[in-house]
Amino acid sequence: MNKPKLDHIGIAVRSLDAAKVYEALGLKIEHVETVETQKVKTAFLSVGDSNLELLEPTEPDSAVAKFIEKRGEGIHHICLRVDNIEEHLEALKAQGYRLINEAPVPGAHGSRVAFLHPSAGNGVLIELSEAINHPEERSEEGSAEPSR
Ligand code: CO
Repeated sequence: MNKPKLDHIGIAVRSLDAAKVYEALGLKIEHVETVETQKVKTAFLSVGDSNLELLEPTEPDSAVAKFIEKRGEGIHHICLRVDNIEEHLEALKAQGYRLINEAPVPGAHGSRVAFLHPSAGNGVLIELSEAINHPEERSEEGSAEPSR
């Protein structure tokens, strides 16, 4: 397994207008997508090799809506990009870490993601993400995928 990389930091916001402060800093929204499984609308701003992911709830019963209700807007999770999500989930389970998703679910950008329980991350909600639509990101890993 390759070493995980920081893919993004997820920030819970009431509205994607929250991107304005980052735009004022010279960052740009590069991708907006509604992720049905998480009931959120997301906006990605790339910052070097990582991203900021703004999360606006689309339903009052979404996890992000509940987070904002309880704790206000703010940093919601960190996401590590991995190359074999199932292997990581199995290894974590075997070591007794509590998972929210025992199996990957669809994430943004056609990725497959899984969340660990915050208790596993000392209060930090950790998301694992395996990119499947980004062959250009994988090529630097020297993967066997043919280049297009
Ligand atoms: Co995320």
